[in-house]
Order: sequence, then structure tokens, then C-alpha cells
Amino acid sequence: MSVPVGVLISGRGSNMQALVKACETPGFPAHIALVIANRPDAKGLEFAKTKGIKTKLIDHTVYQTKQEFEAALTNTLIENGIQIVCLAGFMRLLGTGFVNEWQGKLINIHPSLLPAFKGLNTHKRALESGVKHHGCTVHFVDAEMDEGPIIGQMAVPVYKTDTPDILSARVLGEEHKLYPACLYRLVRGQT
Ligand code: GRF
Repeated sequence: MSVPVGVLISGRGSNMQALVKACETPGFPAHIALVIANRPDAKGLEFAKTKGIKTKLIDHTVYQTKQEFEAALTNTLIENGIQIVCLAGFMRLLGTGFVNEWQGKLINIHPSLLPAFKGLNTHKRALESGVKHHGCTVHFVDAEMDEGPIIGQMAVPVYKTDTPDILSARVLGEEHKLYPACLYRLVRGQT
């Protein structure tokens, strides 16, 4: 049985693309059944459409409250039979109601070796701090930002000549391998 997965994006969606491609591998136990963006200009929507994946724009700016926005997200996910939700560059902080509703089924990828460098601009901050290793983390989402039990991590070396862009590209290459691997483990009950 293939588990239906929903992916939430806000922008370019390269991690969503990596998940879609991994799910196309014969025998992968999940498929991307729905991609939701909260911004009309999210570039990743085009890719999903070319793959014939159902897409939906749920623009947070049209809702009066966070609760209404999150209820729209949950209703759409449920209507489409989604069992696991992957946040992939989704730039809205989700509230307790949504997080509790999807507990154990809601995962995120963050571009640092958590618990280091929660939040934004992780690559610049990693360079400034002088760490020798940086990387990415896939974790269950809880109500605190970039917290929740870790499912998997990948580390990359940091070089003296790195800029934030160079380091970001090195980490992103690992994100694209790590996220599908962690989704696989979750679906197989191996977290
Ligand atoms: C990635 O670096 C991800 O770790 C972070 O936001 C970025 C999204 O990139 N949460 P993309 O939209 O998947 O290309």
C-alpha cells in the first residue's frame, strides 16, 4: 500500500521535487498526492502541476485568523486522504491546534544540525560561528519552532572559503537525499 503524502511549500520547492522523484522509485511506500502553497507565487507549484499532482493555493493572507488558515489546511488535507504532511520550505509557524491534529504525522526539514541554528539565515550564522560541520535535519514538528524529535540528520564540512550561498548549496544537496530517506523511515515505522 502506498501512503498518500501532502507537501506544504512557500517557494521554490526543491525539497518537494526531491520527495516527488523519490516517490516515483518503484517500491517506494508513499506518493505525493497533494502540494499546498500558501503563496500564489510559490515556484514549486508549476513543477507539481507538470507531474500531474493535485495542487492547492491556500493563501494565509485571505484568512482573518491563524486558526481559520490552519482549519483550511487541515480540511484540504483530510479531503484528499492525506496521512503524512511534509513541510518543505513552508514559511508559516503552525499553531498548537494544527500541530496536535497531525502529531506524529507532520515532519519538517531544517537547514542546520539541530538544535544548532534554529530559525532563519542558518548558513550565514554557521559561517560566523566558526563551526567545522553544518548540515540539515528532518524532525517531527511540535509547537516550538524547529523543535520536535529528530528523525535524521546529514552533516557537511564547512570550508574557510565558503560563502553562505556555497554552503547553502552543499547542504541543499544533502537535504534532497535526507528528506526522502526520512519519509521512507516514517512510512515504514522505522523512526
Ligand atoms: C530548505 O533549505 C529547507 O531546509 C528550508 O527551506 C528551504 C526550502 O527550499 N526549510 P526548497 O523550497 O525546498 O527549495
